[in-house]
Amino acid sequence: MLDARVLVLTGAGVSAESGIPTFRGKDGYWRNLNPAKLATPEAFAKDPGLVWEWYRERRQRIRAAQPNPAHKAIAKLAQHAQKFLLVTQNVDDLHARAGSRKEKMVQIHGDIFVTRCSRCHFSRHDYEHEHESEDIDPPKCPRCNALMRPGVVWFGEQLPWDELRRVENYLKDGRCDFVIVAGTTATFGYIIDWVLRASASNGQLIEVNPEVTQLSQFATKLYREPATKVLLRLVNEMLAG
Ligand code: OAD
Repeated sequence: MLDARVLVLTGAGVSAESGIPTFRGKDGYWRNLNPAKLATPEAFAKDPGLVWEWYRERRQRIRAAQPNPAHKAIAKLAQHAQKFLLVTQNVDDLHARAGSRKEKMVQIHGDIFVTRCSRCHFSRHDYEHEHESEDIDPPKCPRCNALMRPGVVWFGEQLPWDELRRVENYLKDGRCDFVIVAGTTATFGYIIDWVLRASASNGQLIEVNPEVTQLSQFATKLYREPATKVLLRLVNEMLAG
């Protein structure tokens, strides 16, 4: 058992090696469309069919993908650390399928397999029973007949309140000995804020990313390598003390 408080923050880079495109690289583009423009309330209002097509394709890709050694290393760390929280910006289920448990994980940008009503509170989990094909219209709410939308956070939207509170509670509970940030450009202010608050008071801030990010300047340790190459080694070193 690692007698430490640990916070891990992940982004699209951790799932990249499972074949899920990141958002900001060239790979993120879909039919020449920028995901930063598709993942918005405005895009959905203008063309819900197009936005649903993109999400359906992403759902299919995620279902077909497998968790990679980076997801598995994080699940291992979660199991062996005294106090642990994973905050992921990823809406896929690869952390969960690698063994990370819901109680120790916050999906701060939602869950791509949730379909929820854009008007009322109805929502359902669409992992098993969905029959997706190119020509299906955007789903309608069985309660109020409004358009249903994916259960993810779009640009400019509020973060889910309950999940936000879970992160805040973890941070309030005490400083972290280790903060690992892997596979994220860390473009959002709240991500930077959480990382800096958690690692204040001498916590180690470890960044795993082949590229420089806004957080790199604060890191106490930098791994400029793909997450699958680094994380298992890093976790084993941490657990060996
Ligand atoms: P991005 O696509 O912005 O960034 C991916 C990051 O992963 C980059 O910093 C890459 O250098 C890094 N990366 C790529 N391959 C990697 C690998 N094999 N190992 C480690 N790192 C690698 O994705 P996020 O930072 O997750 O939000 O994006 C954050 C949020 O912006 C997303 O959750 C989404 C997006 O818009 C919403 O939809 C609200």
